[in-house]
Amino acid sequence: MKLFVDSANLKDIAEALKRGFVRGITTNPSLLAKEPKSAFEEHIEKIVALILYYQPGIHLSVEVFSREPNEILRQSVEFRRIFEYPDLSIKIQIGLDELEIINLLKKEGFSVNCTCLMTVNQAVMAAAAGARYVSLFVGRIRDGGIDIGGKFEKELKDGFEKKTFTEKDFDPFTVIKETRMLLDKSYPDVEIIAGSMRSCNDIKMSGLAGAHIVTVPPKYFADMAAHFKTNEVVAQFLKDFEDWIK
Ligand code: E4P
Repeated sequence: MKLFVDSANLKDIAEALKRGFVRGITTNPSLLAKEPKSAFEEHIEKIVALILYYQPGIHLSVEVFSREPNEILRQSVEFRRIFEYPDLSIKIQIGLDELEIINLLKKEGFSVNCTCLMTVNQAVMAAAAGARYVSLFVGRIRDGGIDIGGKFEKELKDGFEKKTFTEKDFDPFTVIKETRMLLDKSYPDVEIIAGSMRSCNDIKMSGLAGAHIVTVPPKYFADMAAHFKTNEVVAQFLKDFEDWIK
């Protein structure tokens, strides 16, 4: 399981890259919108500069910000031209019209990370159209299933009636496991990125379920690297050694 950092914050990205455990960076428009307002291109160029300084060659996913197919295509071509980063993936949301663009970009040699995926069927369609990565959103898949009585009550009722989905399609780890089984059979070069992490347990479980990559918000790294028993044993080793060396 590879770890990506899910952030557009330059300090957080640098902190993760310099420690060497990160194999890629994913951004999205909401993450960018948390940063001080600046030109979008300049901000991404700063991320590219950090990659080139700390870990040249790692993955970078930059997301388009449009739902209009021609505009998605235009932005994709622009991103490749402006950022000139060989390991750039264009992040494009799933959708029937978007699949045509993904297919077109694949034929033109682009790497596409198809994002905002909630179901196995979406992931298979994205892979079949030519996506190099399929990004499944763990936290949001789970949230979808607990929305009974919420703002998506009608969508849930219709979806269950039509069997567009069943109960287990809202267990994110089942979705990852089933997606992995089908990709391994038919699209073995396509990698699953699990995103939308809500806890350290989500990170581990996503990997165990079969995600090739988990993209992690920086706030989880400290907890992932720590354990109270690690602290205890390190303190004990140091104390025993100090007592002995006196
Ligand atoms: C993944 O590529 C996305 O950037 C991200 O994980 C979205 O997660 P969210 O549900 O926290 O917005």
